[in-house]
Amino acid sequence: MKEIKPFKEPIYIIRPVLPDLKDVNKKIVEIWNSKWLTNFGDQHRALEEELKKYLKVRNLSLFCNGTIALQLAIQVLELTGEVITTPFTFPATSHSLYLNNITPIYCDINLNDFNLAADKIEDLITSKTSAIMPVHVFGNPCDVEKIEQIAKKNDLKVMYDAAHCFGVDYKEKPIGTFGDISMFSFHATKIFHTIEGGALTYNDDDLKDKLYLLKNFGIRDEETVLLPGTNAKMNELQAAIGLLTLSLVDEEIRIRKKLSEVYTSNLKDVEGIRLLDRKKDVKYNYQYYPILIDTETFKMSRDQVYEEMKKYNVFTRKYFYPLCTDYKFYSSEDQNNIPNAKKVANEILCLPIYGELSEEVISNISKILKNLKKT
Ligand SMILES: Cc1ncc(COP(=O)(O)O)c(C=O)c1O
Repeated sequence: MKEIKPFKEPIYIIRPVLPDLKDVNKKIVEIWNSKWLTNFGDQHRALEEELKKYLKVRNLSLFCNGTIALQLAIQVLELTGEVITTPFTFPATSHSLYLNNITPIYCDINLNDFNLAADKIEDLITSKTSAIMPVHVFGNPCDVEKIEQIAKKNDLKVMYDAAHCFGVDYKEKPIGTFGDISMFSFHATKIFHTIEGGALTYNDDDLKDKLYLLKNFGIRDEETVLLPGTNAKMNELQAAIGLLTLSLVDEEIRIRKKLSEVYTSNLKDVEGIRLLDRKKDVKYNYQYYPILIDTETFKMSRDQVYEEMKKYNVFTRKYFYPLCTDYKFYSSEDQNNIPNAKKVANEILCLPIYGELSEEVISNISKILKNLKKT
């Protein structure tokens, strides 16, 4: 095969969607003139309304980041004891439980979609279990029907970490409408972002006021503090960036879908590379492009591929390695029945995908990968 030269400029896994600087400046002038920089101003109100429409949800509350939103979701649902979750996730999922004095109980994942294995949840339920906290990993919906059925049967709450799931629908239902609460991250690396930020979506209207108090120090009015809340407000600049980014999301998803298809057509038949199983009844957002590298058949380990790609100026990421169970402060011998999670964490590699990349670049990244395979 023809040798491929390294890219001149580094190609990272993700680049943020950036609104036009002129529009950002206009927004800044608007905010400066209002002299209202935070505490639920016009931008905040407008973004909340726009996102409710876009995500097609009944209720939505904004936060300064997704991690704190998760922590407050746990508090508003009054979770206690143990929560069944996945070890194959970003640290924030597990930490949000730990920081609320809840023991994360790790359930294994599916090999085809890397999500919590719904058929293994019930074995882990004890008298202390208060909830299930699955993650829609890489924007691929969990088995929401089965999880709902288990939760109902065992009287458990369900809190989805939907950090990767902006704009995803499952069976034509918006992803943020499943479970008791879903958390979306609006970090700069996400398809929709507010630089830092996050939101909770929920069907129960009664959660709205308590979430407001929890993110606003528990303050009801000037002379009344009702509960020990924190400061988790989204400020006006964040909300303004969100309003501008929202108008770019559909186009970004359209381009990523194309790029994703280019990867798939190039890599689907490569021995030793496995692609994420995509479900037919899902509208995806193409937030990530993950692959699995099988050392034996690819004749090179995931770690070697990761290092070799760097020589071509391609910076892939090992999402999610290590597993949460590998963090020293969580590991315990009885939480190690997770063979699928271990396998996936050792084989996973996320490839660069963002709207500024061309189909040609994606083809070349695919070619570099294919050329690495030892015959
Ligand atoms: C699965 C998952 N959960 C939670 C978070 C935390 O979100 P944030 O960065 O907005 O705090 C992330 C972060 O990117 C994530 O990938």
